Order: sequence, then structure tokens, then C-alpha cells
Amino acid sequence: MNITWDADLYEKKFDYIRRYGADLVELLDAPAGSAVLDLGCGNGALTEVLRERGYRVMGLDSSPELLAAAQKNHEDIRFLRGDARDFVLDDTVDAVFSNAVFHWIDREDQDKMLNSVFQALKPGGQFVFEFGGHGNNALIHAALEKEFRQFGYEYHIPFYFPTIGEYAGRLERAGFKVTYAILFPRPTELFSDSGMADWIRMFVKTPFLGVTPEDREGIIEGAVERLRYPLEQDGTWYADYVRLRMKAVKE
Ligand code: BEZ
Repeated sequence: MNITWDADLYEKKFDYIRRYGADLVELLDAPAGSAVLDLGCGNGALTEVLRERGYRVMGLDSSPELLAAAQKNHEDIRFLRGDARDFVLDDTVDAVFSNAVFHWIDREDQDKMLNSVFQALKPGGQFVFEFGGHGNNALIHAALEKEFRQFGYEYHIPFYFPTIGEYAGRLERAGFKVTYAILFPRPTELFSDSGMADWIRMFVKTPFLGVTPEDREGIIEGAVERLRYPLEQDGTWYADYVRLRMKAVKE
């Protein structure tokens, strides 16, 4: 999926992506000095956390906007432009790390991406990642689907949210041994009065292609009202995130 990101907005309002990703870093137990690729590094915030843990890091992302922000904030880290589905590194690495990226990759491109990761790793290399798992944002997408229908449009969830079983199968077919897997709910506070509307505007792009600007606003307003009861508490919005967190090793 090709998306033009607003790097400023991403940093200011969606900073939880970095904060929640920080404990994922703990799953990596490579020795200090190991070469680690942050796949889909975005603005480089977690690449920096990995570096602080003593790894030799490198970030790869397809978004020129986010890469420019990453390079500006972390001048001495090497950031590369590339596509997670199809990348080749000059040298293999000891670990590949990725947070909140793989749900953006279409189901039919997932195996290609896993093969690229496999090729990028040294034998024994670790692959640690987290992304949206089965049931992620189910309430949000159900509300959007109802509103799209009311306005006469069809809605398709524009993300890939697999179960543990489905993803473990893909990893094993790509040659990995799965050593850790968990699917867990993680309600996530959204930091603004218009938190849910901002979230929808930031992340739900392709379903709105072909929707008129007036209908788009009506759909967002309607979805926000539908979501107020389950996802707003005392003026604070929460998104119904479900994370799939896994670790696998290249045998
Ligand atoms: C996620 O991190 O699960 C996610 C973020 C934005 C859109 C879809 C999923």
C-alpha cells in the first residue's frame, strides 16, 4: 500500500507507536554489537531505542517523508529507502525487528516479504515483530462498514490481521522456527479530543477513494458516534488494538 505520511502529525499525535513498541525490543536477545535491521522503521524512533541497547542498527522504510524525518532526527544512523516486500541488503544481519508494519502489506505479498527477511538474516538470526492481529480494530471497522453502507458505498478492511496459526504457518513455510507467539488486546489511548476522527483520517485511506468529500465527513462523523459508547471514556478515546507479537529464528 503506498501512503503519503504526514511525518509531523505521526510524531505528535501517534507517538504511542514508539512507546508501545519499546517493550517489543526486549524480545530481542542478540548480544550487544549485533547488526539489527529495523524493517519499516518509520521516523526512526525505535531504531534509536535499538541503538541505545547497543546494537549496530539500520532502518529501512518505503516512505520518503518518514525517512527524511528519521534521518533528520538521527543523523548518524543509516536509513535506506526500500520496500519490505522485496528488499536485498548488502550484508546479512543478526536480527530483523519490525513494529506495526506488516498489517499494511497485502495478504498475497506476505510470503514475498518473509522470504526477503529470511534472505537478509544470517543463519541463527532472530526475527522479532509485532503488528495488528486477528480482531484488530474490529469495532472501528464494523462502525465504518455500517456507515459506508448507509452512504451507499462498500467497505473493505484495508489491512491484514492474521491469527497466530496462519502466521506461524507462513513463517515455517519460509524456513523459520517459531519460538514465541502471543495475540493480545491492547486498548490504546488516543491523545486528542477528536482522537477517533483523527485516527480514521490518518490510517483509513484506500476505502475513501471514490467517496465524495461531503460523504467522507458524514461517514467519519457517523462512525465516531457509533464508537462513542464502546471506545470513549470520560472524554478520552481508546482504539481497540489487538497485537500479534512473534519471534522466529532462521534455522
Ligand atoms: C496497528 O498498529 O495495528 C494499526 C495502525 C494503523 C492502522 C491499522 C492498524
